[in-house]
Amino acid sequence: MPKAIHLISPNFSDIFSPNIEIGQFPDGDIHVRVPPILECRGQDVVIFHRLYPRQNTSLMGLFLILDSLKEIGAKHVTVVAPYLPYSRQDKKKLNGEVASAFVVCNMLARAGCDKLITFDCHFLNKEGPAEFGELKIENISMGKALVEYAKATAFLGEPCEVITPDMGANYLVKEHGGKSYSKVRKEYEGDKIAYRDVGQMDGDFDVKDKNVLLLDDMISTGATMICALEKLTEGRAKKICCAATHGLFLYNCVDKIKKFTPYVFSSDSIINDNAKVSIKEKLADFGVSQPTLF
Ligand code: R5P
Repeated sequence: MPKAIHLISPNFSDIFSPNIEIGQFPDGDIHVRVPPILECRGQDVVIFHRLYPRQNTSLMGLFLILDSLKEIGAKHVTVVAPYLPYSRQDKKKLNGEVASAFVVCNMLARAGCDKLITFDCHFLNKEGPAEFGELKIENISMGKALVEYAKATAFLGEPCEVITPDMGANYLVKEHGGKSYSKVRKEYEGDKIAYRDVGQMDGDFDVKDKNVLLLDDMISTGATMICALEKLTEGRAKKICCAATHGLFLYNCVDKIKKFTPYVFSSDSIINDNAKVSIKEKLADFGVSQPTLF
């Protein structure tokens, strides 16, 4: 993306220096200021903005930026949002349920996002360009980088099996033999928290005395990883490591995972204490490593 103008949100400051301001009024409304807005007229623009945590507020901030770019007449607008919230609700299971993944993608496209660059997007199940609803997406995978990090730090060069704890993330292990547990979730238990616990996990892998990397697109409550960890422990695996592109790590699940293994990490698509592998190099592959700051 040569010569595009880069707008960096404050929530991307761990990777690039911010040049836009996002604040909040006392009542919670978002205040956005894009000082380089005039330079964006007729130009290609890349916005770097995380959409997690505080996903609703962060999305609103992005809509405000997109609208100001539309108003000024920016040419082609790309959004780099490493983790796409709402991506797990891409299907309607219950009568009247909203497939919010489509809604969010359509809203982004209609607000002026010509392309979204994101990482291991839950509903895509493969790397590369895609279209979802009205939105064009470039889905980048952190799978290879996470495997390399696990091999270097946990397994110290010893061979390891790489297994996903459910079929959805199977594309992450295609080049490692394609082993995945199959997971079935329970039904919703109430209407207050839309959460379905893991009901069943199947997969008959001989892991005895083998090193195993459990790799997933995300660790949210940790229920999926913990279920797979129980299986591997029963199967008497040698050394186990847990990794995911997106580390949401809710409900203190790192502590629960650490009862099975000390090796648990993610990429920095979401900023967290266990983020060990940076998305920065992957972004560089897409020509967005040296932002043009104003
Ligand atoms: C689901 O299909 C994903 O690949 C992850 O396995 C899942 O989102 C992890 O969620 P949790 O950590 O809450 O089990």
